[in-house]
Amino acid sequence: MRVAILTSEAVPFAKTGGLADVSGALPKALIQQNVDARLILPLYDQIDRDLLNGGAVENVRVEWRGQVHHVRFLYSDVAGAPTYLLETPEFFARPAIYGYQDDHIRFAFFSRAALALLKYLDWAPDVVHGNDWPCGFAVTEMRARRRHEAFFQKTKSLLSLHNVGYQGLFDAGDLWWLGFGDPPERDDFSLDRHASALKAGIIAADALATVSPRYAQEIQTTEQGHGLDWLLRARSDRLAGITNGVDYDVWNPETDPHIAINFSAEDLAGKRECKLDLLRRFGLPEDVNRPIIAIISRLVAQKGYDLIRQIAGSIVETGSFFIALGAGAKEYEEFLQRWHDAAPLQVGIYKGYAGEPLAHQIEAGADMFLMPSLYEPCGLNQMYSMRYGTVPIVRATGGLDDTVQQFDPSDGTGTGFKFGPYEAGALLEKIREALYFYARPEQWQKIQHNGMLVDNSWAAAAKKYIQLYQEM
Ligand code: ADP
Ligand code: GLC
Repeated sequence: MRVAILTSEAVPFAKTGGLADVSGALPKALIQQNVDARLILPLYDQIDRDLLNGGAVENVRVEWRGQVHHVRFLYSDVAGAPTYLLETPEFFARPAIYGYQDDHIRFAFFSRAALALLKYLDWAPDVVHGNDWPCGFAVTEMRARRRHEAFFQKTKSLLSLHNVGYQGLFDAGDLWWLGFGDPPERDDFSLDRHASALKAGIIAADALATVSPRYAQEIQTTEQGHGLDWLLRARSDRLAGITNGVDYDVWNPETDPHIAINFSAEDLAGKRECKLDLLRRFGLPEDVNRPIIAIISRLVAQKGYDLIRQIAGSIVETGSFFIALGAGAKEYEEFLQRWHDAAPLQVGIYKGYAGEPLAHQIEAGADMFLMPSLYEPCGLNQMYSMRYGTVPIVRATGGLDDTVQQFDPSDGTGTGFKFGPYEAGALLEKIREALYFYARPEQWQKIQHNGMLVDNSWAAAAKKYIQLYQEM
């Protein structure tokens, strides 16, 4: 079976969030199960050129706006799967991955070029697996080209929905010269007087997948469908929910090269050292007996900072340390700065995208990990936390609800703490509940162990994808 995975970000090349972790890990997991999986993404400025270890595919012919471009793909196998990185300086030699006026044009070009690469390699995949709105173009184009190009005749398309909140909206006037100006494409793209690459992709794809079963249900409701719930209901027979896995080659406290000392479920002693190391890194007092509550996230409304903001004072009053790593909206960065300034000996912050090492050091050194998300398609940090003996406190939404089990002191089951309503008071109560058990080491260790022993490896999720590919 041949699967081409198209993505706008993938570790270890380029990352803003969990999409990169998933896109980097899935191809490798598929290859381990004998699927011929290949990864295609743009070559951004920020990508470390040392990762490009295998030459290039030169002179791939791309027709674009009535002209012919010849592009180059750099090759790498460092992700454990053949990876092709599209070099087009005009669109991708920029400091950030997203956030430009012409993002829709950049990723429409990427889609076009990725399909051109497949032809150039004479490698017709069974499935083109696109991810999120940037690949909505590829999926839409696949549907059209399959009608008249023998090469793609047997190729199906799968679109993974990692976050329906990002819809790839752009001015519908651009549809003409992107090549989508006629029906049915034009209408498929139309969304509330704009064009949406996500919507077109949802309509065109042969099958759809979301990143947890719970989220697959939620996006079919008006509350959580971001305006596309009707369409997702209409396509619900082709919509699967497959929970993301964890790449334990990367996120494993027994082998993690980034953390102060390795540790395991059998011997948690090293976690104390990691905690000391973390306190030092954030310039906080080296008091290992006080709990550290941590958060790592993009600073957007989705992640629940509006709740944290309301109870910031109360969290400080519990006497805990709070460590936050995040990049994004100015209002949340400013909040973090004010919070730190008000309680510099308790609140440690890092504003910006820190890369992998610091994220690992926080997972290893913290006691609790907060994810009070408004919505969360899957969420990865709660699963990383569990493996590092860091107890997640989450809101019961999307993948958080699917992957974290509330601790029950009566029988010692459960892996974390979970609250329901999107309210600051409910979050604060859960934090207090967690602190109560933190103060009772026997019970706390039970929760840690329960979480550390959960197996969220990619093997099981990859099997589900393979089954999905086969059924298409
Ligand atoms: P999302 O994809 O919505 O951002 P996930 O929980 O799926 O949420 O994944 C987030 C990933 O991004 C995790 O690997 C996390 O460690 C990482 N991450 C988020 N923000 C930062 C940051 N500022 N610095 C370093 N890593 C970050
Ligand atoms: C998205 C979601 C996150 C998910 C990630 C990877 O960015 O916000 O919940 O874990 O994609 O699928």
